[in-house]
Amino acid sequence: MIQLCNIGKVYDNGAPALHDINLKIPSGDFVYITGSSGAGKSTLLRLLYCADRPSRGQILMGERNITRLRPRSVALLRREIGFVFQDFKLLNKRTVFENVALPLQVQGLAKQEIQSRVYQLLQYVGLEYKLQRKPLELSGGEQQRVAIARAMIVRPRVLLADEPTGNLDSDLAIEIMEMFTRINHEGTTVLLATHDRELLDRFPRRTIVLKGGHIVSDTLPQTAEETPSKEEAI
Ligand SMILES: Nc1ncnc2c1ncn2[C@@H]1O[C@H](COP(=O)(O)OP(=O)(O)OP(=O)(O)O)[C@@H](O)[C@H]1O
Ligand SMILES: [Mg+2]
Repeated sequence: MIQLCNIGKVYDNGAPALHDINLKIPSGDFVYITGSSGAGKSTLLRLLYCADRPSRGQILMGERNITRLRPRSVALLRREIGFVFQDFKLLNKRTVFENVALPLQVQGLAKQEIQSRVYQLLQYVGLEYKLQRKPLELSGGEQQRVAIARAMIVRPRVLLADEPTGNLDSDLAIEIMEMFTRINHEGTTVLLATHDRELLDRFPRRTIVLKGGHIVSDTLPQTAEETPSKEEAI
């Protein structure tokens, strides 16, 4: 379970980005964070990744309070969290293999184990035949799959993805979404920030809508048997 309790975030320049966010996300859930540009989606994900600290409130991940971790504890926490950045953030001078291997090298794993895990995961995302290529020799969708593989290589319990389909055409976006669905079915909690209404409609999931740093709605998808919306529909 991930819990945010009274989370507020004010950036150094004084802009309030999140106000009094209270949220519970059970393990194994797949949740969208949506809302217009500037609503606070990336800020929320960055707080969960400890890339930034909340100005107030607490974040719990399982039993652990991750609100004010020391750098060493942040590094440990990130072994359990994968982050897929909107702009991929791949190292363009490194090969696909090296990009995906990097988090395991940082952890100091043995070379042989790194090789077999990276190869296995690149097979999973369908890129094992491109492992010696460099990112700029790949299509946007392929680069995105490398970014997902890099996030997944640590076998995270939680996967955070910031607009992971933002730069892709709709066929590729669907392919990437199917991959996230598969990852989620294998037990990983997924939080995905997106603007993309088409995806929200096509892959209905619990959807949290932010506006001006507030949660304005938090709804479950409608099913044939029930309409369990927690609050009024978006
Ligand atoms: N590093 C920063 N310094 C100061 N203000 C920031 C910073 N990052 C974000 N903000 C501000 O915080 C608010 C929320 O930004 P955030 O990036 O979380 O929005 P978003 O919902 O992800 O938007 P987008 O859809 O454009 O990615 C915005 O008003 C933004 O200008
Ligand atoms: Mg953003």
